[in-house]
Amino acid sequence: MLRHPPFFVGAGNVNRVSMLPVPDTAIIVVAAGSGTRLDAGAPKALVGIDTHSILRHALDGVFAAAPAQVIVVAPAGFEGDAESELQAAAGGRADLGRVVTGGDTRQKSVAAGLAALWGDVTRVLVHDAARALTPPAVIDAVVAAVADEVGIIPTLPVVDTLKRVDGDLIAGPVDRSELAAAQTPQGFPRALLEAAYRSALASGVEYTDDAALYAAAGHAVRRIPGDARGFKITTPDDLERARHLLGVIERPALETTAVDAASPTGPRVGLGTDVHAFGGDGALWLAGL
Ligand code: C5P
Repeated sequence: MLRHPPFFVGAGNVNRVSMLPVPDTAIIVVAAGSGTRLDAGAPKALVGIDTHSILRHALDGVFAAAPAQVIVVAPAGFEGDAESELQAAAGGRADLGRVVTGGDTRQKSVAAGLAALWGDVTRVLVHDAARALTPPAVIDAVVAAVADEVGIIPTLPVVDTLKRVDGDLIAGPVDRSELAAAQTPQGFPRALLEAAYRSALASGVEYTDDAALYAAAGHAVRRIPGDARGFKITTPDDLERARHLLGVIERPALETTAVDAASPTGPRVGLGTDVHAFGGDGALWLAGL
């Protein structure tokens, strides 16, 4: 287990000493995925959304939240790129950040992050870099909700009608009121999460997220409201959605006219007709007159 420095010294400038309190929270940002489904020719976290990468956007959100130790888990061979993104996002909080090398599964990557925690940390959040647009308020809400032995995850309601399937046959309905879509960051008391990871390592079971691993160790997990912007960038369509949200690309218009092209905003003037049948007795009322 690593010890934190006794105080923070600005990188390359020993005169710039800051007496920020050592945070009791750490955020492990797992960014070591290969991004096979994104098929962008680079590890997913280093793919650009706009002028900034997925990892940079995720770290901007993390550093906009309350101060925490930030551990970036990078793909092997790309630690230097991750370090550059960390430095750029951290600003004056660069001393809180550290890059470690990830593993070949998400679970191993989280374990690598856990091994780099400072001694004073009592609360750990695990966040997918791929959820690059997660608002800082969600991160702060998870931190605030972690208490005692309970793990916290942000979730969204499931809005689609779901079916159980058997090949191409519909086997039956699924009661969606029992379901929720899980997001990150997921937050846990540090000691219990570390113990749960040790158990998972011993059993050899791979869990789909940290909440499942934590629950398998016998602990309760509670949900708080997630945010639609916390979606995971997995496919090229997800990347396009992120670009729309950042305003990098305009949504395609259903129909573009010469007037639209010349004047995309502002008032428009035109002529139209509205026809109604006469009926019944009494005076004629037209446009309320
Ligand atoms: O692959 P998936 O999209 O589920 O990954 C979720 C997050 O876990 C991503 O941010 C990805 O970079 C990270 N990951 C990792 N190490 C792996 C696999 C995934 O850090 N071996």
